[in-house]
Amino acid sequence: MGDVLRIGLLGCGRIGIMHAANINMHPKTKLAAVYDIDDSASKNAADTHGAIACGHADEIFANPEIDAVLIATATETHADYIESAVAACKPVLCEKPIDLDLARVNLCRDRIADSTVPVQIGFNRRFDPGHRACRNALLAGEVGELRQLIIISRDPAMPPSEYCAVSGGIFRDMTIHDFDMARFILGEEPVEVVALANRLIDPELMNRIGDYDTAMITMRTATGRQCIINNSRVAVYGYDQRVEILGSDGMLQSENQTPHALRRHSASQTAAQEPYQNFFVERYREAYWAEIGAFADCVMNGTQPEVGFEDGRRALVLAEAAYLSLSEKRVVAVDEVD
Ligand SMILES: NC(=O)c1ccc[n+]([C@@H]2O[C@H](COP(=O)([O-])OP(=O)(O)OC[C@H]3O[C@@H](n4cnc5c(N)ncnc54)[C@H](O)[C@@H]3O)[C@@H](O)[C@H]2O)c1
Repeated sequence: MGDVLRIGLLGCGRIGIMHAANINMHPKTKLAAVYDIDDSASKNAADTHGAIACGHADEIFANPEIDAVLIATATETHADYIESAVAACKPVLCEKPIDLDLARVNLCRDRIADSTVPVQIGFNRRFDPGHRACRNALLAGEVGELRQLIIISRDPAMPPSEYCAVSGGIFRDMTIHDFDMARFILGEEPVEVVALANRLIDPELMNRIGDYDTAMITMRTATGRQCIINNSRVAVYGYDQRVEILGSDGMLQSENQTPHALRRHSASQTAAQEPYQNFFVERYREAYWAEIGAFADCVMNGTQPEVGFEDGRRALVLAEAAYLSLSEKRVVAVDEVD
């Protein structure tokens, strides 16, 4: 391996093409090859980013000129591709979630258990400068002992109905990021989960596909630290991404971002700002960038990723606990599902 990590990209859809651009812009990484089952998606990405378009995923795994793999394909392919990459000794950065089925995730874990090939999971929000600064301030003791954590995560608009139908449900698809953020900040594993979810935005669609569009989840760690996650598939004022920590000596808040800092004051309003950054690609631009850098660093330095396979698995365990709580209308011990 040289001083630039040559990455093979699997999946050239919405998030894949964003990663492709970041990989080529980042000084530590280069896009070597791409593969998508949709030939035109592969070809477009390859042409745009100066990479080889492969006709099969195995061409990426077998290529000695490729140092590592980024998996940005449809969720149901992640576990298979992680196993193939690890078998080929290629470090992996895999998008969340690992799979929608905890049994499949556990099988994948067992199959790669003997390997030390790094597997990083795409929980990009850990790399958001604001959220990370919040955690660092907490770790530095700035607000004393953590007592409560509030995570607000609301999308600007409903995803397409076709996406909702195969997403795996709000907890596995959307809240999974927040379960990981909770674990990242709490510093202790949640041991109890209680979830409420409702169909307030698009009841017809949600009923038809058995999903929910509005949710609140409360969790508690063994020492009594509390966390509330607040999700909505729609917030009319935009993509709402906030983290708040209450400690014994103060409070920390990681706030929303606007594209610039203009504030308008008039007879009818004060401190009116631009709308929030549109959606995840814009809001978490720096986080995705730092995520690629962290992956390159861990592969080049021979260390394990900061956010690894077990983090991906544990976030899914919390999603399963939330579903059990919802269906049985009770507080669920995380042990019950894992
Ligand atoms: N971390 C984040 O913020 C974030 C954001 C969006 C999506 N995601 C995750 O990224 C993954 C992709 O999401 P997306 O929104 O880009 O979806 P998408 O549908 O836009 O793209 C997926 C691509 O994978 C391709 N594909 C499907 N099966 C394949 C296979 N077997 N081999 C090769 N290519 C295959 C499809 O043709 C498509 O081009 C999902 O798992 C999703 O949960 C993560």
